[in-house]
Amino acid sequence: MRLINRLIAALSQITGCIATELSEKCCATLVDAGAVDILLKQIPQLNRGIPDQEVLKQVLYTLQNIARFPNVRPVLANNPQLVNTIFQELLRNKTDMFFIACEILKKLCESEEGRGFAGALGHHIRRLASMVRGLEKKVELDKRNGHTEARKEDNLRRLGEAAALYHLLTDK
Ligand SMILES: *[C@@H]1O[C@H](CO)[C@@H](O)[C@H](O)[C@H]1NC(C)=O
Repeated sequence: MRLINRLIAALSQITGCIATELSEKCCATLVDAGAVDILLKQIPQLNRGIPDQEVLKQVLYTLQNIARFPNVRPVLANNPQLVNTIFQELLRNKTDMFFIACEILKKLCESEEGRGFAGALGHHIRRLASMVRGLEKKVELDKRNGHTEARKEDNLRRLGEAAALYHLLTDK
């Protein structure tokens, strides 16, 4: 438990550092220090409990920040295991993780290297397509039924993100 709290604190600090104007340099330093593999190794060790899921969120935020910079992005896009792991988190469909994972993958698709990985992800892309179809149905139903605005907005936003990623992965 204490270790996990320290890990959360360390990752928050990294995220904080990344958010400053030194962010690109900070990301490059982290990547040079092997942070991507260290973060990647953490993911399968995390359980479904709340503290572990908080660590997972911080790990994904850190990767999302790294993915923002075109100069360091290839380190992520060229790592098939990483792309696969992030995609699995997206398909697991937990609110925060879904949006962060989607953002990371969209960024990676924008890179030169990103053009290469879609071919190896057929199975995931098919599941993403079925997720998009499911969300389209939900959004249709939401229009007719009197669901709360928050719920309608959540489904619409999910659909927008999932569909955008699907197009990036298949339009090439
Ligand atoms: C993903 O989660 C959202 C919100 O909980 C839900 O509406 C949607 O049906 C889920 N999709 C899948 C494929 O599980």
